Amino acid sequence: MTKQQKLAILGFGVLALGGCNTDMWRQPKQEPLDESEFYADGASNRPLVPGTIARGHLREDDAYFVGAVNGKWLDGFPAGIKLDHALLERGQERFNIYCTPCHGRLGDGQGMIAQRGYTLKRPVGNYHTDRLRKMPVGHFYDVITNGYGAMFSYASRIEPQDRWAIVAYIRALQLSRNASPSDLRPDELQGLSSMTNDSKTRLAQK
Ligand code: HEC
Repeated sequence: MTKQQKLAILGFGVLALGGCNTDMWRQPKQEPLDESEFYADGASNRPLVPGTIARGHLREDDAYFVGAVNGKWLDGFPAGIKLDHALLERGQERFNIYCTPCHGRLGDGQGMIAQRGYTLKRPVGNYHTDRLRKMPVGHFYDVITNGYGAMFSYASRIEPQDRWAIVAYIRALQLSRNASPSDLRPDELQGLSSMTNDSKTRLAQK
């Protein structure tokens, strides 16, 4: 390196350092929870401006996010939901975590909390009633999202996709208690012969 090159680098360095000053350290700014002199209410932490939507959080699809379109509950699952085995398994897992303490593993409202006295205040819903069998899927989604009577909302704990998975599983639970031999394929009917007489009679009575 020639002497001139060294001088040029040194000169550049001095110039660059000259650009440094302490303005950035002394800038007017608020520390978390500082009192604000600017806002009338004195709070430096500001709430979101009403109507603000974070990128990627626009929820336009009422069918998927509300379970109802034009105030009417959805009767079939929304387009984004793929009804398959994986969804049912996920639904079963989430249901067993969040709902069984009250509703029981069978959805008959006989969970441990219900057995220990919750029922005294207000009976836990039983999914195996005619009313709830006929209820559109949107209603179940709505109950998870907004709660129902004495039951509180699960919106903060269960994402929309998982709510639909739980609803699909509830439908499976309902079917499990309300199927008739004519719902089965011939090869499945064959399997019935290995069932006990008792369960066969119960099926026949349906
Ligand atoms: C802490 C107890 C508790 C838990 C946990 C609970 N529920 Fe409930 N649920 C209730 C009670 C109590 C009712 C009846 C409310 C009423 O009639 O006021 C009810 C009612 C219902 C109903 C019937 C609504 C109707 O139209 O009659 C559905 C469906 C339901 N719950 C779904 C769920 C699902 C899905 C979960 C899990 C995500 C869940 N519940 C978790 C207590 C619970």
